[in-house]
Amino acid sequence: MATINKNYEKLQGSYLFLEISKRVKDFTEKNPDVEIMRLGIGDTTQPLTKTVIKGLLDGVKKLANAKTYTGYGEAQGDIRLRVALSDFYKKRGIHLDVKEIFISDGAKADCANIQSIFGIDNVVAVSDPVYPVYVDSSVIAGRTGEFKNGRYEKLVYMECDEENNFVPVPPKQKVDIIYLCNPNNPTGGVATREQLKAFVDYALLNKAVIIFDAAYSEYISDTNLPKSIYEIEGAKKCAIEINSFSKWIGFTGVRLGFTVVPLDLVVFNTQKEKVHALWSKRQGGSQGIMFNGASNIAQEGAISALSEKGQMENKKVIAYYMNNAKMIKNSLTKLGLKVFGGENAPYVWVKTGAGFNSWGFFDKLLKEAHVVSTPGSGFGLKGEGFIRLSAFADKKNVKKALESIEKNLKL
Ligand SMILES: Cc1ncc(COP(=O)(O)O)c(C=O)c1O
Repeated sequence: MATINKNYEKLQGSYLFLEISKRVKDFTEKNPDVEIMRLGIGDTTQPLTKTVIKGLLDGVKKLANAKTYTGYGEAQGDIRLRVALSDFYKKRGIHLDVKEIFISDGAKADCANIQSIFGIDNVVAVSDPVYPVYVDSSVIAGRTGEFKNGRYEKLVYMECDEENNFVPVPPKQKVDIIYLCNPNNPTGGVATREQLKAFVDYALLNKAVIIFDAAYSEYISDTNLPKSIYEIEGAKKCAIEINSFSKWIGFTGVRLGFTVVPLDLVVFNTQKEKVHALWSKRQGGSQGIMFNGASNIAQEGAISALSEKGQMENKKVIAYYMNNAKMIKNSLTKLGLKVFGGENAPYVWVKTGAGFNSWGFFDKLLKEAHVVSTPGSGFGLKGEGFIRLSAFADKKNVKKALESIEKNLKL
């Protein structure tokens, strides 16, 4: 007799974007002539660079010739891409063995699937507000209790607010798995070296593991801020870093990411290389149990992106998005709103101000300025009273949206 995984019934997740679509649809049906400007969604909009396109085309052409055709790829991903990534990290003073890099088809799945190599009784800590995948995958795995009063039982929440500048501090109690998203989605908060060191020290002391989601690391321009957890001494003993080519080179649709599991990583009662071996078993490319490798075409694109020319071109695309973030931040600050993030992260986190909760301000922005945002309350209890605006839009649309806000929003 088959039964379902009842943990799925505890999930609250999909409500946020469904509700946004519903409210936008209701508004456009009542106001068919009004142009809606979307600053809500964290999806890239700008075309891939010439060098990335060339890499992708070369990848396709190789498949047209029996001599260069490839089927299933190397375990853990194309060695040329892993070498290019290892060289990329080396420039920041981080030594990664190519064996430690696992190419994936994106960071979201890895953030969720990584849980499968840890004990089911492990206690998980997440920040609040939070990128929902860390929570929902903990729920599905059975690491939480019921959802009560806006939070899951058994999950430990590290609260982020104005006081800590939206960067969490390590929990007071003992936890086993800590998800950190840095730069942060949704708040745009970015941790300093000292703030990350506090987590590494905590993890080493408690034999905990940090799952460090660095999907937006290339948006950090302040050279004093660490981009990788491995810039912190001791992190290779306690942290897994997950990254994505989605926001870095515009591969949200192409799909490519990577996860670093250091050989030195140890958790309670394990020797070096054990955790690495488990992920390798699950994920090791054509030899993995539950993953058969990332697209060879996508990997050609990323190899090209990591060339000197490719990196220069991609920096320009990131600067384009970050200029949007700057425009959003400046414009809303001028209006007297309290605005966070948007400096080393592509998200701007806006305080709704007195009298409005997140959904109330979402409706106000939609009705008065015709701009779609994302209500902060959808990311957790501590997101209440905020909205998230995304810089991943066309500059013209950002300008139009800001002009409309400046002209029409009644504050
Ligand atoms: C923090 C964070 N991690 C991971 C992802 C997903 O990355 P990918 O497209 O590689 O699955 C996103 C996407 O928005 C994200 O915001």
